Amino acid sequence: MSLRQILIHPDPRLKKMCESVARVTPEIEALADDMLATMYDAPGVGLAAPQVGVMSRIFVMDATRDPEAERRPMVLINPEIAWSSDDLNTYDEGCLSIPDQYADVTRPAEVRMRWLGLDGKTHEEDFDGLWATCAQHELDHLNGILFIDHLSAIKRQMITRKMVKLKRERARG
Ligand code: NI
Repeated sequence: MSLRQILIHPDPRLKKMCESVARVTPEIEALADDMLATMYDAPGVGLAAPQVGVMSRIFVMDATRDPEAERRPMVLINPEIAWSSDDLNTYDEGCLSIPDQYADVTRPAEVRMRWLGLDGKTHEEDFDGLWATCAQHELDHLNGILFIDHLSAIKRQMITRKMVKLKRERARG
């Protein structure tokens, strides 16, 4: 298990459609382990494969917020939304690829996700609250969509300019 480097927006890999995973291989298992470790280390509640430069349809999440509660690490391969509620929910979203920037995004309040698990079986589960927000945010990543793509062009450009500056500063060391 090792930590992977998280790509920072703007990066062309964060704007691409990811490929379906044909089957669960030891490589996919290792990737999932690394992604969970990287997510907890960040710390974050979700991380998608393209954020670590792997263009495959897989994301991890754990939206357990109570630090006293037991962790619930989840790995979703080839995830899809089987159903979403008409009820909407607005959440102040952030992203590990867009550090320290937050903005309100409105999405369906509840979603039923279907995915392939590391056990090779199909899973289905309903999510609400932060879990629902997180699942939709991460699924977006697999389609090359960032949370800032849900904002106005002006807000998106403002945040992108800050990220360009941040990357320049980091490159300088
Ligand atoms: Ni994100």
